[in-house]
Amino acid sequence: MDIQSMKERFEKLKTPFYYYDTDLLAETLSAIKSETDKHEGWQLHYAVKACANPKVLRQIQQAGFGADCVSGGEIRTCIENGFPADEIVFAGVGKADWEIELALEAGIQYFNVESIPELEVIAEIATRKNKTANVSFRINPDVEAHTHAHITTGLAENKFGIAKEDMLHVIRVAQSLPSVRFVGLHFHIGSQILQMDDFEALCYRINDLQDELEAAGITEVHNINVGGGLGIDYKHPNENPIPDFKSYFETYAKCLKLRPGQRLHFELGRAVVGQCGSLITRCLYVKQAQTKQFVIVDAGMTELMRPALYGARHYIENLSCSSGQQTYDVVGPVCESSDVFAKDCPLPETKRGDLLAIRSGGAYGETMASQYNCRELPKAFTTEDI
Ligand code: LLP
Repeated sequence: MDIQSMKERFEKLKTPFYYYDTDLLAETLSAIKSETDKHEGWQLHYAVKACANPKVLRQIQQAGFGADCVSGGEIRTCIENGFPADEIVFAGVGKADWEIELALEAGIQYFNVESIPELEVIAEIATRKNKTANVSFRINPDVEAHTHAHITTGLAENKFGIAKEDMLHVIRVAQSLPSVRFVGLHFHIGSQILQMDDFEALCYRINDLQDELEAAGITEVHNINVGGGLGIDYKHPNENPIPDFKSYFETYAKCLKLRPGQRLHFELGRAVVGQCGSLITRCLYVKQAQTKQFVIVDAGMTELMRPALYGARHYIENLSCSSGQQTYDVVGPVCESSDVFAKDCPLPETKRGDLLAIRSGGAYGETMASQYNCRELPKAFTTEDI
């Protein structure tokens, strides 16, 4: 259902809130499935950090996805929402002891390990608990992703992963530890990537690394996990509600050389949920300043931090009015100059009380909300709720 036709239903709710279009989510999930089901041994672990809303999580789980978690809290949330523990993978540069214990107790699929000190702690805790921990190493592929500097992760200068030059050494260390089982390699080059050549470059890098491993006689690489990163069209959410999964998955099918029996794992987040969510807000005031007109809305950087943090631009629609084109700066109420959703934003003539939809907010919207200024965390509704 398009967002304009939801207006009547939104009117009775207190703003601001997130709205998740579960029909679009279902379509998105089946678009992914129809690509990945073509290939044996491909598995998708949804990156929970993008949106951990319980209803969204349940729908994703029921569609047959596993989960990629980066904290003990995410692991708990996933288990509470129906994900079997053995379909959960756990990444992150700073896993605390309690999080490792929780993951081992739950019996997760594998840890994506980011350093030798971390490997040693996992081994020690596993020994103490008389368990075996499955570990995969996150290798920093040193591949550049064409995206915002704050969300690229696969360059040598980033804090993530283990240098590719150290790959053989860390695998050998893992093989010498009785309480860990080496199961695979993990990569992630960044987020909001729209150029397929970036993923292609990652494939070629992985091919070279696999050749190196083969030459060294290491054959236990059961899983290759290529992370996530596929971007969405923030400018045209109505025209492009479903990301280009075909090109994305075909790039891997074409460029990555898997060894016989090897499984390929993906960790998409944004591409799964990004277009399904909108932040619904109301215009509080229209303020005419000397050089600008401001639309001041009741949502702020506390509900959607991406514009303030990354200079991200989300498409904004006025759901109450469609005539009399104007240009506004759309801003929130928070006491920070960076609490701006969009500068010079074309909108119909907006009045106090109009409902606005800030689109493409399904990923890294609700999950990154804060209570700065003692504001309440945003509520969220799905199509079925309202
Ligand atoms: N796997 C790993 C290891 C990751 O670090 C991430 C995202 C993903 C998967 C999922 O990436 P996606 O498919 O969503 O691009 N808050 C930022 C994005 C941060 C992404 C962090 N890592 C934003 O709002 O743009």
